[in-house]
Amino acid sequence: MGKFKIAVIPGDGIGPEVTNGARKVLDRVGEAYGHTFACEEWLAGGIAIDATGEPLPPATVAGCRNSQAVLLGAVGGPQWDRLPGDRRPERALLGLRSALGLFANIRPAVLYPPLASACPLHPLIAARGIDLVFVRELTGGIYFGASGRRDGSLGPEAYDTERYSVMEVERIARTAFSLARSRKRRLTSVDKANVLESSRLWREVVIRVAAEYPDVALEHLYVDNASMQLIRRPDTFDVLVAGNLFGDILSDEAAMITGSIGMLPSASTGAPGTPGMYEPVHGSAPDLAGKDAANPLAMILSTAMMLRLSLQLDREAAAIDEAVSKVLLAGYRTSDIMDPQAGEHDLKRVGTQEMSDLVAAAI
Ligand code: IPM
Ligand code: MN
Repeated sequence: MGKFKIAVIPGDGIGPEVTNGARKVLDRVGEAYGHTFACEEWLAGGIAIDATGEPLPPATVAGCRNSQAVLLGAVGGPQWDRLPGDRRPERALLGLRSALGLFANIRPAVLYPPLASACPLHPLIAARGIDLVFVRELTGGIYFGASGRRDGSLGPEAYDTERYSVMEVERIARTAFSLARSRKRRLTSVDKANVLESSRLWREVVIRVAAEYPDVALEHLYVDNASMQLIRRPDTFDVLVAGNLFGDILSDEAAMITGSIGMLPSASTGAPGTPGMYEPVHGSAPDLAGKDAANPLAMILSTAMMLRLSLQLDREAAAIDEAVSKVLLAGYRTSDIMDPQAGEHDLKRVGTQEMSDLVAAAI
């Protein structure tokens, strides 16, 4: 029986709806296993801009630091798109990642067998299955390098800088190798070492760290080739490690080949003993907001990752994963994963809250 303190950031768009769904599942886990999850809600993103004038109020950062884990819905929306870069809702995400030292972003992409028909790849490729994990570096690279505007030789210009230190590559490489060791012992490192100096350093360091993991098979792919191989031979990948920008782009591709970005959870973790942050890979989807139409499964699966990685509740996390599989197998679908070919009696279309209730009831 444990008591756990969770910071919850519903955020914008569909964020509050999927967060609400995840909390129902969390409450059910608490009931079934005798735990108390004390959830405290904090403002971040557009909603925080409207309420306080800033995307990431200091109280939110303090609230997160004071918790064992952070659950985040999504931030952003068209009403805040015209704000300058440093005051946009997305700043809240980047600010939290950096304030909490969340350098490793773990994004599993799994094709659930009942969703095979939602996979946009050729059926022969889909039939071989997809079960891979992206390890994306999250607090470095071009997202956090020097950037700005200035007068250049061709007139006004803008610049962003890709930079990586040896230490940053070492620690993300170790995270990825360790994860590969617990899975199928294959690691793909993604870079652009044929062009970028920062990628040449990345590759050198990954090769050096590989010596500590002789039992893990390492391959290197240039990012352009990686984007192609992901749709050509997705079944051959186990763990992939990439810098911040390449990992951002390729993890959306990985999400799509599993049927819907509405299925992909993520964990962002830092030093042992510090709170991790758990959020769906999908964004705030403003067009779906308030319609009870969003898929809550990515948020619910993120909650399972939180139980496993931050609270060491393996059994409880597995119970959520199994409940999700059961509900999918029983034919329940939100619109994004509905198979248009299937008859209505094979599949049942449900909304955000009903899907969440079904998962909770299956625990
Ligand atoms: C993600 C998102 C964010 C990112 C944005 C919203 C800042 O796309 O988590 O993948 O680029 O990291
Ligand atoms: Mn992204």
